Order: sequence, then structure tokens, then C-alpha cells
Amino acid sequence: MRTLIVYASKSGYAKECAQRIAQGLEGDVEIADIKKDTARKNLADYGMILAGGSVRAGHVSGSLRKFLEANKEVLLQKRLGLFLCGTDPDNLETQFETHYPKELLDSAIAKEWFGGKIVFAEQNAIMRFMLKRILKGEQDVHVEKPEAVQAFITACSTVSE
Ligand SMILES: Cc1cc2nc3c(=O)[nH]c(=O)nc-3n(C[C@H](O)[C@H](O)[C@H](O)COP(=O)(O)O)c2cc1C
Repeated sequence: MRTLIVYASKSGYAKECAQRIAQGLEGDVEIADIKKDTARKNLADYGMILAGGSVRAGHVSGSLRKFLEANKEVLLQKRLGLFLCGTDPDNLETQFETHYPKELLDSAIAKEWFGGKIVFAEQNAIMRFMLKRILKGEQDVHVEKPEAVQAFITACSTVSE
């Protein structure tokens, strides 16, 4: 079965997670950046589609939301996995419901929050200024969850009877 992993990433963490998922899955796996590659993919070619991205200021990428809405009917016919990246672990159920269509969440075989990281050196001056005020300092934030990425891979690899 062919698999497509669609990700939306600003500083690279969701991309890293997508790459880790691709390494962990068997078979023919392709990765697509929602901004650059998705338009070129024909979803009919894939049996499994995995999609996700990072939360910034309470929102996931508009392109990812549009992709999920526009392709909802097709995605409902696929093995589907949805993931979120972010550093806020509160109310994850609500976060998923806020960012992704309910029908897709109900039909997904895998749903995981992969945590995230904020590295000040990777941010531009405006972001650093903003983040410094929100986080009350310039400490990097690390809440990466490799075990959740592994759980996602396992759930996607499990063939239902
Ligand atoms: C400006 C900014 C705003 C953020 N806002 C949120 C947020 O609202 N909720 C959250 O859980 N994480 C938030 N984060 C953390 C990101 O989701 C985290 O840095 C993630 O690893 C980014 O993934 P990416 O590199 O794929 O974009 C924010 C990070 C930045 C830099």
C-alpha cells in the first residue's frame, strides 16, 4: 500500500516528525510539504494518508486546514492518520477538535500529539521579542514526544481485521 505523509511546518519540527514516520513505515512512502508538493499529488494513488502540522498562536496552517476540508470525502475513504505538534499539552482533545474536521477525527486510525520545541536561535528578531514576553524569558522549550511518534507509527502499521 502506498502512503502519503502531508505536513505543515514553520521551523522544521513537524517535518522531522513526518520524516521519522516515513522511516518507521513499511512500503512505498512519500512525504509532501503542504505548501510546495501537495498540489502535485493525486490522492487516489494512496491507500493511507497521514497529515499534520504545528500549532502557532492557537492555529494550524491555513493550507493544511484547506487541504483537509477540500479533500474530506476522499480522505474518509482512506486509512487516515492525524497529528499535531505544539508545546502546549493542555486540552489535547479540544485542540484536535479545533484544528481538524470532526468527521476526519472520527474516521482516523491514528491521532497523536507529538509535542514540539521552541529554539530561540532559530527565530527571527520579531519572534524572539514576542516569545520572550510570552514565555517570560529566553529559555528554549523542549517537549518533544518521540514515543508518541512511535505510537502513531504502530497504530498506522496495525492492519485491522
Ligand atoms: C511564535 C510561536 C507561537 C507558538 N504558538 C503555539 C501555540 O499556540 N500552541 C502550541 O501548542 N504551541 C505553540 N508554539 C510551539 C510550536 O508549535 C512548536 O515550536 C513546534 O515545534 C513548531 O513546529 P514546526 O517547527 O514544525 O513549525 C508556538 C511556537 C512559536 C515559535
